[in-house]
Amino acid sequence: MTHSPIDVLVREVGLRDGLQNTATIVPTEGKLAWIVAELAAGVREIEVTSFVPPKLIPQFADAEEVVSRALKLSGLTLMALAPNLRGAERAFALGVHKVDYVTSVSRTHNLKNVRREREESLADFVRIVQARDAAGLKGHIELAAGLSTALGCSYEGRIAVDEVRRCAAFLAEAGADEIMIADTVGYADPRQVREVFTAVLAEVGTVPVAAHFHDTRGTGLANVAAALECGIRRFDSSLGGLGGCPFAPGASGNIVTEDLCFMLDSMGLSTGIDLERLLAVREIAASYLGSDSLSGALARAGLPRHYQSAAARASA
Ligand code: COA
Ligand code: ZN
Repeated sequence: MTHSPIDVLVREVGLRDGLQNTATIVPTEGKLAWIVAELAAGVREIEVTSFVPPKLIPQFADAEEVVSRALKLSGLTLMALAPNLRGAERAFALGVHKVDYVTSVSRTHNLKNVRREREESLADFVRIVQARDAAGLKGHIELAAGLSTALGCSYEGRIAVDEVRRCAAFLAEAGADEIMIADTVGYADPRQVREVFTAVLAEVGTVPVAAHFHDTRGTGLANVAAALECGIRRFDSSLGGLGGCPFAPGASGNIVTEDLCFMLDSMGLSTGIDLERLLAVREIAASYLGSDSLSGALARAGLPRHYQSAAARASA
């Protein structure tokens, strides 16, 4: 499948960030149906699972199967989370396109989430880069380095911009192919987003920076607008706003993919995603998780009457 050019990359993370937090285990078939339907709606990058110990998060016991089946889908950039070298090795063995490695800027959250000091997590990223390169996978597998709790932490409160800047600089220097700045618990506001992203962008040179916002307190899309102004063109979001870290008290859903795509499309920023088809994917997730678990303003209100997509307007 060839894709038309886009202005903004919207990456679906509901199958990872969303499902890590739900009590219901979605069967592998359901995950695949969700992936296939989002890809058909035009979502070109999807985080499909997490390589964590199955005992810790049973939802991802089928990680290997989900990845090997999703890798057969043409046109999909497949990302998977790895919290440590062991997880990255599982991802490398299957040939995922991108590994999402996470470190928290908050030392306390890092200890709770991955049971080690932040500096150990940062040092592990260097080992992951070395392992990938030693396996001859450089140029085949990208390493995205995520900084969780970069805009606030439910254990530590505010996080100093300088700490985020230093962690981002370390990861860029270590060879990250992408830096992801995450508001894990939804504390951020647009002014803070401008401050943090400006500081990070000044530090990481040409390494692309992505934003990962949670809409816990209703500032999610305002934060996207602020990040867009800084030049950010990659955003994580979840179908129906599923999401939240099980090891961060008070964490709830990511920004809603459907609402994000609607806002971007309305702004004339093409995402390559068909809004009607995207809205229809909710039925698949709802059939496993219940419709109450999905949120979203666009789904509630519907597309405006006579709505024309950015692509339709551009070609009119
Ligand atoms: N995949 C599968 N098994 C793994 C693994 C991985 N990525 N990492 C470790 N294990 C296994 C080890 O082999 C060991 O198995 P054993 O008991 O049979 O010997 C066991 O798990 C414990 O390993 P250890 O290295 O001591 O891990 P830990 O208990 O210190 O936990 C993490 C560390 C990182 C694996 C765990 O805290 C984790 O997965 N955290 C991620 C949490 C998360 O997903 N948060 C939300 C997303 S940010
Ligand atoms: Zn998240």
